[in-house]
Amino acid sequence: MIVILGAMESEISEFLSCMQNRQTCNWNGFEHHRGTIDGHEVLVSRSGVGKVKAAMMTQHLIDDYKPRAILFTGLAGSLRPHIAIGDTLVARDLVQHDMDTSGIGYPRGQIPFTDWRFLPADPCLLEIASGFTPQQGSLHIGRICTGDQFITHREMDSHAHLTGELEGDGVEMEGASVAQVCAINKVPCLVARTISDKADGSAAVNFEEFLPRASHNSLDFVRYMLAGM
Ligand code: ADE
Repeated sequence: MIVILGAMESEISEFLSCMQNRQTCNWNGFEHHRGTIDGHEVLVSRSGVGKVKAAMMTQHLIDDYKPRAILFTGLAGSLRPHIAIGDTLVARDLVQHDMDTSGIGYPRGQIPFTDWRFLPADPCLLEIASGFTPQQGSLHIGRICTGDQFITHREMDSHAHLTGELEGDGVEMEGASVAQVCAINKVPCLVARTISDKADGSAAVNFEEFLPRASHNSLDFVRYMLAGM
């Protein structure tokens, strides 16, 4: 079985409408939907927003369902001029931009007492994803920065680290925590996001406007992935 996660209901809604043999169960207020998409056995769920919920949900689903892979989809802010709203950004690797133990000598993003900083996507899943052609916009393979902050201004303290020290291409609030839990459990993982905003002064407005369109692109992407896995 393959687990498909998104942070918010609107990020997973299109998956639900095309699932067959859907059975829904409730876990701590979160609905898990089991069934098939294009004949592939899947579990679709909402993780909730932020690193804690995403990590909690990932571990729970790994323990209870033993998936052979986890795909995380949804929205991200772009950190690069050439990555436009509507484009697809697949994470080559991911880093927690708000992990900062520089006071005890670690570079930003590194998990202390380990050498984990940039968590790589599963190479086989990444290879499949790199063949995806979105119906709208372009495909980018790059670095996703994750943190418990919605980035709305280039002047925000964290913004300078995102494109500077961390060389990020996109920013969101769950991916690196999912990747870390998957790495610990040795479960293949891939994070792919549709760009909803430019992580600047118009981010909040663009994000709201883009939300309903986002899961359409995610569904195309997931279908493409399922066919190749
Ligand atoms: N997800 C989508 N846009 C975002 C942003 N600007 N900051 C953090 N997470 C996001």
